[in-house]
Amino acid sequence: MPRNIIRHAHRINRSHREQLNGHRTCLLWFTGLSGSGKSTIAGLVEEKLYALGKRTYLLDGDNVRHGLNGDLGFSDADRVENIRRIGELSRLFVDAGIITLAAFISPFRVDRNNVRELMEEGNFIEVFIDTPLATCEQRDPKGLYHRARNGEIKHFTGIDSPYEPPEAPELRIVNDGLQPHEAAEQVIRYLQANGYLAQ
Ligand code: ADX
Repeated sequence: MPRNIIRHAHRINRSHREQLNGHRTCLLWFTGLSGSGKSTIAGLVEEKLYALGKRTYLLDGDNVRHGLNGDLGFSDADRVENIRRIGELSRLFVDAGIITLAAFISPFRVDRNNVRELMEEGNFIEVFIDTPLATCEQRDPKGLYHRARNGEIKHFTGIDSPYEPPEAPELRIVNDGLQPHEAAEQVIRYLQANGYLAQ
């Protein structure tokens, strides 16, 4: 806890912003292997939410690592810091009244749970994009698995760096032979069924 710094409670808070927007906010946290389909599905979910008139923002590993987290690599310590910063950032976005979608491998259970702890009860929706490694490797959209197998990339998730699957995600989507739109629809249905999209 920083010393000599005291939190200030501002008059306009999250519930005012939610009221203005006409919907609740939450954090949709997509986790899964590289190539599992996280970004594609998250992007489609965002499009569907936009079409429904909801305010959204998508934070994506490949993009955030060019800017805010451009100083971080893929050692265990850097991945921990990557997720810590994204967690804090997501908390601000949710507080700003925006439905926030975060698509990061986030391979370590404890880091994902730390983000869950940052959020208010019921605001963290963990979406496990459960795609078998063999399928991700076959898709290999960026050619990175190939390079990792050749030893050109070290600490690649699923090859020589671990991935710890969620034990109790709010949503688990087996993305093997499923159309991305169907996967995105599962997320929308979850949000509807749990009252997140109600006016
Ligand atoms: S995380 O592990 O820290 O959550 P993040 O989601 O931000 O990872 O970034 C993953 C993306 O970085 C992958 O989709 C891939 O394109 C790229 N990448 C580059 N090197 C690695 C690596 N060693 N392991 C995993 N992904 C990597």
